[in-house]
Amino acid sequence: MMRTVKTVKEMAKIRGDLCKMNIIGLVPTMGALHEGHLSLIRKAKKDCNIVIASIFVNPLQFGPKEDFKKYPRDLEKDSEFLKLAGCDILFSPQSGDILGKDLGTSVHVEGLQSVMCGASRPGHFDGVCTIVLKLFNIVRPGNAYFGLKDYQQFVIIKKMTDDLDMPVNIIGCPIIRDRNGLALSSRNAYLSKDDYTKAVRINKALREGSRLAGLKKLKAGEITALLKKEYLKGMKTDYLGFYDADMLSLFDEKKKPSGKLVLAGAFFVGNTRLIDNIIIRI
Ligand code: PAJ
Repeated sequence: MMRTVKTVKEMAKIRGDLCKMNIIGLVPTMGALHEGHLSLIRKAKKDCNIVIASIFVNPLQFGPKEDFKKYPRDLEKDSEFLKLAGCDILFSPQSGDILGKDLGTSVHVEGLQSVMCGASRPGHFDGVCTIVLKLFNIVRPGNAYFGLKDYQQFVIIKKMTDDLDMPVNIIGCPIIRDRNGLALSSRNAYLSKDDYTKAVRINKALREGSRLAGLKKLKAGEITALLKKEYLKGMKTDYLGFYDADMLSLFDEKKKPSGKLVLAGAFFVGNTRLIDNIIIRI
């Protein structure tokens, strides 16, 4: 029997319900998978009927001096991990296939890139958004899962999908850490034993920063200076600061803060660049 729908609201609800009957979940990755990635697969598995993971080391998001060439790649091992985590489809396109010969379009999200990783990796998020938008168009997921470890990436992708009315829910998932608190990252594979000992201090510093912020006795700049001195010795701080969790603007004591802050940083331990963050509710 045919149904006639006369309002936008009802049509939108019907379309939404139809989507919910067969939700496809996408987990975009660059491979070298670890428990952080697999936690996204498991979350997608809970929410969706079909889970698709993509593995593509995206050249568009690496700077000329960055580690594109040496980025760890092991498709066979990744594929086994994905099977065990319950992934239904692994999408691992070749570079020429997904990027084509003459890609002439780049996606730029304005306003959220002048700080944090955006400031030190020019063009990085344009490369991320371009490939993520292409993946969304190829896979057409109802839900897409991103780790909050790459906090700025999550906020920028959410903004892109909101701005462009893209029919996909962006779902942020918690940071998975090892038993010493180090956020899991494919780049942890580069760390020597000595580097690792330094790297575990990053999360300790952020937790101490969050505690000190809660005491409200020190200014943001005083806290970050103290963390650099006490915890982050022996590594180069790329950036460290308190940012508005939605707008990503640097926290300013003179302005009334909105609901959430993120204390985020990037650090070079030896030659390895590591990022981490902690959300602070105020
Ligand atoms: P990649 O670094 O492989 O990360 C893929 C996804 O896993 C991202 O959403 C990232 O935030 C999440 N992730 C990584 N480590 C995590 C951890 N310790 N806990 C929770 N989630 C974690 O991010 C990218 O790839 C790329 O930029 C990509 C989005 C695939 C576009 O190329």
